Amino acid sequence: MAGRSVVVGVGHYLPERVVPNSEFEKTLDTSDEWIKTRSGIERRHFAAEDETTSDLATNAAEAALADAGLTADDIDAIIVATSTADLTFPSAATMVQARLGMTKGFAFDVQAVCAGFVFALSNANALILSGQAKRVLVIGAETFSRIMDWTDRSTCVLFGDGAGALVLELQEGEGTSDDRGILATDLNSDGRYKDLLYVDGGVSTQSTGHLRMQGNQVFRHAVEKLTKTAETALGTAGLGNSDVDWIVPHQANIRIIQGTAKKMGLPMENVVVTVQDHGNTSAASIPLALSVGKQRGQIKQGDLIVTEAIGGGLAWGAVVLRW
Ligand code: ACO
Repeated sequence: MAGRSVVVGVGHYLPERVVPNSEFEKTLDTSDEWIKTRSGIERRHFAAEDETTSDLATNAAEAALADAGLTADDIDAIIVATSTADLTFPSAATMVQARLGMTKGFAFDVQAVCAGFVFALSNANALILSGQAKRVLVIGAETFSRIMDWTDRSTCVLFGDGAGALVLELQEGEGTSDDRGILATDLNSDGRYKDLLYVDGGVSTQSTGHLRMQGNQVFRHAVEKLTKTAETALGTAGLGNSDVDWIVPHQANIRIIQGTAKKMGLPMENVVVTVQDHGNTSAASIPLALSVGKQRGQIKQGDLIVTEAIGGGLAWGAVVLRW
């Protein structure tokens, strides 16, 4: 017997406003064709002016709770993965906690940029397995539209806003890789690469700043590091690439997604792809893809899933879980 963190609910929220690539043609020297071919992105959602990350996160959390048939009273902890919290403090997670009417337990944010959801899942799993929480709401939520430089065509066309959430619950398994729940995690970072992808502002520098990225340099790291972390996590779970039903990757660029699947020897039929509709929503992209993948009828109970993500830091990692 072994404790496992099992997904019992999933949900997402996307802001109403949909922005097609053609919108950028009006203000920038770019084209729908360039954006589609180089990134796979066709459209993205942008939050309304008065809509914040904790609003998106709360909506996604409510959808996940409804899917689980639970209420906020059933939850012991909330973790929000975000780099775009409403305020410097308190955390977006405590704002969600208040909005859900949850007066017990604890809530905090995790900041690992695009890898944030993988880091949050791994932390939630550790809290559950160490007996500190039985049910954890894990949310990825971002408003990257707030940190775009709208004059920089190499970044502002790539990102979007959104949120996704999972409810994890402690259940007893057999201790084998046939169990439902999180089977293995693998986390990595290497701060030597901090200049490849960063925001040129922050509290200590007294500004908000804009996202800066050497996209082609990040690209060079992505496929190799994502493949390695996914295979490491699968190996820890005693599984191989051929056991995978679904890769649910961070949705940054279709070419990175295709390159990683190819390197893992898996066809694109085994990959959940949402990048065309959402753009890169950073820490929200994986829970969004899990929720949409379930809605589409792709992800079913018992499926073996590997999620993988890389982002600013660089920070990267993977989680293997049976749905
Ligand atoms: N429209 C038209 N041309 C453009 C645009 C645009 N929107 N953006 C850049 N270009 C031009 C460049 O100026 C360059 O022109 P030049 O050759 O005259 O200098 C040319 O297109 C090629 O630029 P590259 O950057 O080499 O293009 P690339 O094929 O690498 O694609 C992209 C760029 C989409 C950014 C890609 O590198 C990528 O996806 N990188 C990884 C992004 C990523 O995964 N980030 C990690 C997660 S994000 C996070 O953690 C927050």
